[in-house]
Amino acid sequence: MLILVTGGAGYIGSHTCVELLLAGHDVVVVDDFSNSSPEALRRVERLAGRPVHLHQLDILDAARLETVFAGRSFDAVIHFAGLKAVGESVAQPLRYFRTNLGTTLNLLEAMARHGVQRLVFSSSSTVYGNPTRVPLTEDMPLSAVNPYGRTKLMIEDILRDFCAANADWQVALLRYFNPVGAHASGLMGEDPRGIPNNLMPFITKVAVGRLEALSVFGTDYPTPDGTAIRDYIHVVDVARGHVAAVQGLASLRGARAVNLGTGRGHSVREVISAMERVLGRPLPTRNAPRRAGDATASWADPSLARQLWGWTATHTLDDMCRDALRWQTAHPDGYDTRPA
Ligand code: UFG
Repeated sequence: MLILVTGGAGYIGSHTCVELLLAGHDVVVVDDFSNSSPEALRRVERLAGRPVHLHQLDILDAARLETVFAGRSFDAVIHFAGLKAVGESVAQPLRYFRTNLGTTLNLLEAMARHGVQRLVFSSSSTVYGNPTRVPLTEDMPLSAVNPYGRTKLMIEDILRDFCAANADWQVALLRYFNPVGAHASGLMGEDPRGIPNNLMPFITKVAVGRLEALSVFGTDYPTPDGTAIRDYIHVVDVARGHVAAVQGLASLRGARAVNLGTGRGHSVREVISAMERVLGRPLPTRNAPRRAGDATASWADPSLARQLWGWTATHTLDDMCRDALRWQTAHPDGYDTRPA
């Protein structure tokens, strides 16, 4: 298949491009590098041994997006591009609505004009709000607890409405739980700008001495060790979930939400212990108050993805820590790291 990947240079996008190419598909990437590096795509090509076709542009520019579709016939689109920092979305809600909704609307209009009717959308487990029950199944109630989450929920709603009006479209809404880890080669990984917001990139920065100590946000949750529980999933498993989804779109009808998780929850303390095992020494941590808006526990029931596509996550928490650490050790400053 010929697949258009928006945001293909990003963390999940780049790992997905490798898996798509290895599965024999051709890939065209649209990315404006506003939160990613062109180096990521060079690594994709190196790992897959095949080229990626790149259009550097902002999808908010509908006229330029049109040039990507001209003269090509895509079989499907995977839409990763978007802003994703919860705290930033609270401070700059309009920017989040304009970017995440505007890019998606432009993309859908371009696809419709060119007769491309198969889409995989990057949704998030954030659409379950503060879960009252775990594991989470796709039919559970949806809500948004911040503007970022609201953009994901609104886009899901837009796609459900759009598919209701256009019976020929086939859309997978992939609800990722907590993607972490890196490519086993150590050549690709997560490269957040500034101080990381998320647990795993923060831990790896502490492990390589770029940050002093990890704050454990909340030690009084009603969980066995008092810290919050999440479903951490290796980014390569998430990437392979996209390959399975895009290959399975032909048998979907309308817009279908599907969880991508492992089905196992791990507490913050368990993640720290796993990293300490891999590292072979303790990590400096300090207890801190709960972070506003954090849920106590969230993990997936991943059985729908297995049922539909035969996909399951295969990597363990130790694999996630080992690969994240390998990447961060080789690239303490991310893709900007100069070779030693
Ligand atoms: N945590 C710490 N210290 C840190 C960072 C995080 O203790 O320095 C804790 C958090 O409080 C939370 C857990 O680690 O309990 C995981 O936090 P992350 O920020 O890594 O992940 P979240 O589950 O909060 O958020 C992720 C994605 C969001 C998405 C959300 C729900 O980053 O984009 O899952 O899907 F919206």
